[in-house]
Amino acid sequence: MIKKIIFSAIQPTGKLTIGHYIGVLKNWLKYQNIYECFFCIADLHSWTNVVNNKIKKNIYDILSILLALGLNYKKCNIFLQSDIVEHLKLYWLLNCYTYTGELFRMTQFKSKIKNNKNLNCGWLNYPILMSSDILLYYTNYVLIGDDQIQHIELTKNISKRINYLYKNNIFNIPKYILSNNGSKIMSLLNPNLKMSKSDINKNNVIYLLDSYKNIKFKINNSITDSQYPPKIIFDKINKPGISNLLNIFSNIKNVSINILEKKFINFSYKNFKNIFIYEIKKFLKDIQKKYILIRNKEKKLKKILLYGKLKVKKYAKKNFFKILYNMNINYLNLS
Ligand code: TRP
Repeated sequence: MIKKIIFSAIQPTGKLTIGHYIGVLKNWLKYQNIYECFFCIADLHSWTNVVNNKIKKNIYDILSILLALGLNYKKCNIFLQSDIVEHLKLYWLLNCYTYTGELFRMTQFKSKIKNNKNLNCGWLNYPILMSSDILLYYTNYVLIGDDQIQHIELTKNISKRINYLYKNNIFNIPKYILSNNGSKIMSLLNPNLKMSKSDINKNNVIYLLDSYKNIKFKINNSITDSQYPPKIIFDKINKPGISNLLNIFSNIKNVSINILEKKFINFSYKNFKNIFIYEIKKFLKDIQKKYILIRNKEKKLKKILLYGKLKVKKYAKKNFFKILYNMNINYLNLS
């Protein structure tokens, strides 16, 4: 039986948060055991922030966290995007089958350009690079957070368009899978907004590498509500703060929210938070211990990337050649 193909990617920028773990990475861990997975550190995407000269260091940081979380580089294909030049080759071809209007409609682009009139074109074209990442591997399912849905819809449109134009199944039309039933992890002080690694107020965010002291402070100060007597129940509309904590708790312990509601039925918010802090500390401590061990072995990390590169390169080369052939443009010598 041919295994389904999964693709996902993460940018090597900023510090990973508990939201990344629950929103996407938990699914990476799950699917590595089931399907043929391509997990990419999307460093070319990070060039949109040209001022960011820390990409190289961040690549090793992110790779170490992924491994510390339990990603197994022998089971799945973990690789660096810039190691596989076919992503860029296909990217250019896809550019020529994408309408500018489609790119101007992307909400991420629209919000970026609102605050920056001198935005570089990378921000406009970046969804096409993402499409190239996905389509190059004949991906069946893309694992994403909900902020990327629009980009996957674009990928579907581009691939359908090309298939139609060439009357040939040149690409697979990918579907997406959201983690956690699509439910987002929210900011601690403003639980109506999504938790974001780029939040200027660091007290809104739980980072995977946060110290115990910081975590304790942030959770103790997180917004709940003033219901009296207090109720630890999941009610996103009336109790977004408590619901958010329950959502995180349920995900790190792998127990249902229903069970948690029963467990904490007569608890005060303070006591609930204390147990929450204890559990999250336990969860993160284990990851952080592994992280330090792994991050200190940079030579080994380099080897892991090389191992991934060699495995993935074979697919990428073969697939790219096949795409050119099926589009009848194999006169292009892009090797
Ligand atoms: N754009 C994604 C992000 O910023 C990362 C990414 C790059 C990606 N290529 C991808 C995600 C392909 C899914 C599939 O989070």
